[in-house]
Amino acid sequence: MQASTKTPSGKSSHVSRQVERSRMRAVMNNIILHLHPTRVPASALRLTYTWGLGGLSALLTVILISTGILLMFRYDASVERAYASIQFLETQVMFGSLLRSVHHWAANLLLVTVFLHMLRVFFTGSYKKGRATNWLVGIALLLLVVSFNFTGYLLPWDQLAYWAVTVATSLLSYIPLIGNALTTFLLGGPEVGQATLRNFYAIHVAVLPALLLLTMSYHFWRIRKDGDISQPERDDKVLKLTTIPYLIQIELAAAALLITSILLWAMFVPAPLEEMANPAHPPNPAKAAWYFLGLQELLLHMHPLAAMMLPGLILLGVALIPFWDTRSEDIGIYFRSSTGKKIALSAAVLGVVLPIVLVVLDEYWVDFPGWLPGLPTIVSNGMIPLVLTMAGLGIIYWSFQKLFKGNRSESTLGLVTFLFISLITLTIIGIFFRGPNMALIWPW
Ligand code: HEM
Repeated sequence: MQASTKTPSGKSSHVSRQVERSRMRAVMNNIILHLHPTRVPASALRLTYTWGLGGLSALLTVILISTGILLMFRYDASVERAYASIQFLETQVMFGSLLRSVHHWAANLLLVTVFLHMLRVFFTGSYKKGRATNWLVGIALLLLVVSFNFTGYLLPWDQLAYWAVTVATSLLSYIPLIGNALTTFLLGGPEVGQATLRNFYAIHVAVLPALLLLTMSYHFWRIRKDGDISQPERDDKVLKLTTIPYLIQIELAAAALLITSILLWAMFVPAPLEEMANPAHPPNPAKAAWYFLGLQELLLHMHPLAAMMLPGLILLGVALIPFWDTRSEDIGIYFRSSTGKKIALSAAVLGVVLPIVLVVLDEYWVDFPGWLPGLPTIVSNGMIPLVLTMAGLGIIYWSFQKLFKGNRSESTLGLVTFLFISLITLTIIGIFFRGPNMALIWPW
């Protein structure tokens, strides 16, 4: 029992505490019901539908912004002092090392959860029925999250940071039309240096957070505007449950699990910090950040212009999916249909096998510049592999239609699944199977 004491006004403080508590609860409920509808279909509460990936991405963003603000109190964006300020934070500041680790791992995990969230939205066809705009907003969020990671990568100013950013920015100049201007703007000089560090810092702590918060707020608003999250049409009239407590208790449990896991992981696996950056000593191999290694792998096989154009064209295609695949009957159903499941499975297997075969063939046998010595390399090693790859993608789409009798939605599912899994395969090759001079190695 709670003791109740009389205040000078004669009112019981116990009563006023109760009033205060119910007022706070009303405010909290109000915030929750701004973000969520009052009732949600029971089917949308199944964890195995969304896997909570959008919510976890949002929570990770909150964690990143809060830990990022704390890091700003100690970080010094100067090439002479940045590395030392990180060392100071790690060794002299209470919980400094944990703080940096949480920020580092949450940033990496966010890339994974956003990518998986995108896969879930794609596999359930949740870009259909008026959700095209939110799919496009999602693509913008994906690019923002990647830019966040990329700009943050340089800040510790260690060897890993310096060379990963040097490799990645050297690629940017090959982006058609805007490449050179973008590189000059980002680097602020001929190479990665003080101006680059200052630029990256400003973009990382001011420009991107503002853009991300705005875009994310719009994303959430659109979910409400689009009639809340998707569900199969047959579930339209099913039982609805109140958001409070049914949805909220699931979200709180997922949040508690995520925060505990990140804290435990960060306690036992500190964020890496190599030697201080040394522009005179590139490591061998000089690799980009892990999430760019799929793209760096392309660069080993094609002229840089083609290696930039291919992912650009694919991203454009992925952005336009809702305008191509408008069949709404299969919205909210994982992999569309039983035919869709077969196509997706075949596409996933192909996405593992084909890139490995092509990488090995190109490493040891294919040699377009040698076979076509009369042509400039931008054609023999650029346009020819690019056109062949695009033709190959067309054949894959066509095979799903012919072999599996897939409709447009199912064949698109197959093609895009192939692309997603190929990206993962190429990234794994880049992380584990590339050694000194970026030669293929056997890691074990
Ligand atoms: C920081 C990144 C992102 C955050 C925080 C976020 C958050 C969310 C949340 C909380 C939902 C509600 C359902 C769920 O949890 O799955 C959602 C739905 C949705 N998201 Fe995202 N999202 C992000 C990125 C993306 C990306 C990269 C895409 C796709 C390119 C995307 C497309 C969509 C679509 C179309 C919906 C509606 C899905 C449906 O109706 O079932 N989002 N997002």
